[in-house]
Amino acid sequence: MKIAVENIKPTIGSIVRVDRSALLTDEVAQRCLELLDDRGVLVFPRIGLSDKEQLAFTDKLGARVNFTNRVPGGDSATQGVYTITLDPKINTEPEYVLGTYFWHMDGMTSPIPPPKASVLSARKVAAKGGQTEFASTFAAYQALPEEDKADIAKLRVMHTVVAAVREVATPESLDPQRRAMKHERPLVWTRKSGRKSMLIGYTADEVVGMSHAEGRALLARLLEWTAQQEFTYRHQWSEGDLVVWDNCGALHRVIPYATDSGRTMHRTSVAGVEAAT
Ligand code: OGA
Ligand code: MN
Repeated sequence: MKIAVENIKPTIGSIVRVDRSALLTDEVAQRCLELLDDRGVLVFPRIGLSDKEQLAFTDKLGARVNFTNRVPGGDSATQGVYTITLDPKINTEPEYVLGTYFWHMDGMTSPIPPPKASVLSARKVAAKGGQTEFASTFAAYQALPEEDKADIAKLRVMHTVVAAVREVATPESLDPQRRAMKHERPLVWTRKSGRKSMLIGYTADEVVGMSHAEGRALLARLLEWTAQQEFTYRHQWSEGDLVVWDNCGALHRVIPYATDSGRTMHRTSVAGVEAAT
């Protein structure tokens, strides 16, 4: 199998070099799934997939999911591909893209199992900004003091769209359907494998049963802990790069970029198979 893997940091990230033609074989896709579990973030430098190839690769990793109701820039030929752009000609709801400047996991506010993986390719990069950062919630959880692990073991968190965009939009300015989106999840998510992660980030609004202040302070403290250097990787994009990450084992955010930067990314998502309810 023509695949070369180089780890980026001890706790997160691998660079995967593989021929474009080999990517869609069962053997390589299976290896990618194992690596994803182990490394959290996989970078395929300048692999240059078309939308069709990106969808085919996404399908190899699991069932495709499209939790984004309206798809800016989408067309029927590539359904399931979400175009990320701040270009006002294409995206008339910039608040949801501006919200990605803040740590989050995709799909947390929808009543679905947390999406297993997100797949992102760079179509046009920004001259300045636009790097995507990832933080391993597996590694961060594992490194928590035992006392903290015990304190958070049974807690539940309400994730809301209003919280996700709180830095960039008022609740009143949101589409009523989006404003109402919320979903409760465990703070500590134990996978069938026994591995534990934390479902946190800007979508996390309240800790159920705690005062607003106490809950918010705890969520902020866990986020700060997870965002430490040793658990994070910042990807500097080149056109044609593809990055796949374990959406519930890593938080992500993008470094701000200009509205007229032209930055354009194509995202696809792999459905989760383990519920977090
Ligand atoms: C998103 C997102 C990251 C990026 O669209 O959900 O997090 O780098 N995007 O654009
Ligand atoms: Mn995202």
